[in-house]
Amino acid sequence: MIFTPGVVPALSFIVNAFTNPGDKVIVQPPVYYPFFRVIEDNGRRVVNNPLLFKDGRYTMDFEDLEKKVKDPLVKLLFLCSPHNPVGRVWSKEELEKLGRICIDNNVLIISDEIHQDILYPGIRHTPFASISEEFALNSITCTSPSKTFNLAGLQTSTIIIPNKIYREVYRSFMERIHLLRNNVFGLVALEAAYTHGEEWLDQFLEYLEGNLRTLTEGMEKDIPQIKIIKPEGTYLAWMDCGDLSLDSKQLNDFMINKARLALDDGEWFGLGGKGFQRINLALH
Ligand SMILES: Cc1ncc(COP(=O)(O)O)c(C=O)c1O
Repeated sequence: MIFTPGVVPALSFIVNAFTNPGDKVIVQPPVYYPFFRVIEDNGRRVVNNPLLFKDGRYTMDFEDLEKKVKDPLVKLLFLCSPHNPVGRVWSKEELEKLGRICIDNNVLIISDEIHQDILYPGIRHTPFASISEEFALNSITCTSPSKTFNLAGLQTSTIIIPNKIYREVYRSFMERIHLLRNNVFGLVALEAAYTHGEEWLDQFLEYLEGNLRTLTEGMEKDIPQIKIIKPEGTYLAWMDCGDLSLDSKQLNDFMINKARLALDDGEWFGLGGKGFQRINLALH
């Protein structure tokens, strides 16, 4: 484990440490938009492996992935697990398939598991690296207590690199940029949260479930043209606003000026995001 000031910074460090300018990184849109920035701001290129959307549920497109990993310039895949914004908590079978395809084609899996604790009843999260030693050695897991315990301001995330060679590559990059140091308050908060926070988390998850129910039932009753994609995890809800028949500008105008809500516009999340909006449910 190496402590780093944030998961997004860690993704940027990883891109720098493990790829060269012009190399390519696979992402699965619609996806957390800083993924695109981290790749492009560092002079690398995004390769899209868009999720499939059918009957209100998202799945991975393995056929398309098989084709994209064949490009020798593809070095990394950013896995969002659980997935922001669509709320999928990937099954072990899905992760096994994805891992097999990437490992067989020398693509390192960067698994962003920052939402790992935020799960709805009956759903289990499978850490990518827990699947097998081979998967662990061919992946880097990024996590943090910042979502679960609302500690983002303390800028402390944990980067788990079981492969000794990769760990040294990452560590030596961090040494070069003089970031092998941490916010001491963040470390204390992390330890306190993981040691004593379970009861708080249980209560938070129950509260969140109530908020999701209020949103879903409210929409069904009052605005049936907006469909809530049922999340399995994360405190985010992805709303399909396609039936409102508004273009992007009209949809944003409607949300901001009429509904008076500052949501995240679906288009920010890349391919497949048009006509959607993302709402944060972790509210009082
Ligand atoms: C998937 C994902 N990764 C990373 C982050 C941000 O992490 P950090 O604040 O540690 O950079 C977020 C926050 O929204 C997120 O949803």
